Amino acid sequence: MAARKIIIDTDPGQDDAVAILLALASPDEIEVLGITAVAGNVPLPLTARNARIVCELAGRPDIPVFAGCAAPLARPLVTAEHVHGKTGLDGPELPDPTMPLQDRHAVDFIVQTLRAEPAGTVTLCPLGPLTNLAQAFRNAPDIIERVQEIVLMGGAYFEVGNITPTAEFNIYVDPEAAAEIFSAGVPLTVMPLDVTHKALVTAARNRAFRELGTPVGRAVAEMTDFFERFDKEKYGSSGAPLHDPCVTAWLIRPDLFSGRHINVEIETGSALTLGMTVADWWRVTDRPANATFMGDIDADGFFALLTERLARL
Ligand code: BDR
Ligand code: CA
Repeated sequence: MAARKIIIDTDPGQDDAVAILLALASPDEIEVLGITAVAGNVPLPLTARNARIVCELAGRPDIPVFAGCAAPLARPLVTAEHVHGKTGLDGPELPDPTMPLQDRHAVDFIVQTLRAEPAGTVTLCPLGPLTNLAQAFRNAPDIIERVQEIVLMGGAYFEVGNITPTAEFNIYVDPEAAAEIFSAGVPLTVMPLDVTHKALVTAARNRAFRELGTPVGRAVAEMTDFFERFDKEKYGSSGAPLHDPCVTAWLIRPDLFSGRHINVEIETGSALTLGMTVADWWRVTDRPANATFMGDIDADGFFALLTERLARL
């Protein structure tokens, strides 16, 4: 089967970095048409820089990287340096990127790519707030029906929230954008915290990355070393959750995940529960299903895949 064409929309972030590395290590299954940076974990200049650092780490300075929206559609930006560090990619010492940032806006790249490629052949993979995607859909509604699928990391049902008691970070930062994406009518696959909090880098899994003995293996081990301290302190968990790599792993091995095709709505009105993904997991409403909302992951299979693929870089 031909590799699936994707655009990765991202706010790196150590876990975003691992998601990108996994995609770039898997050319038989995934063709990365471009990477679009959005403001999220850290401000846009840093996410656009970090995306290029990761491409160069993977030996892929040919991947076009575009900078997108610097702030959410209707709100001030909320960032997460408390999780990801000052640069967003704290942990390993990585050189400044030398590859250029493209001079086109990320939103224009998304629109033009969806118009240029045959309809139904491009998958969008957002790993951060959904601002760039929502802006692209606003600017060019004709592209909506051309999207093959959106596979995103965001939201939570059983885990409820991480940035507030009831909201996951990516959805909380730009809830208006999320609401527009979840109601756009595009096939949607969602990796919520319910799944990603099971994808934990234990000491043994971290060792496996380090023992690859490559620059990529070392960098991933050091990124997850840094990133884990936050979740260990907060949840007492055994290591860093690899949220965003669940998206790219699903493109390669969907059998590692299970979920339900259900209705998911985004709360945009309540100050108390802003950005909540109201997932009708138990199908107690008659609201139509709009998303495949994942609930479980074969974590051992996921880490075996990840380690095997990172070894190829
Ligand atoms: C999500 O928020 C970010 O901190 C991570 O990169 C991930 O995309 C998890 O809530
Ligand atoms: Ca992210």
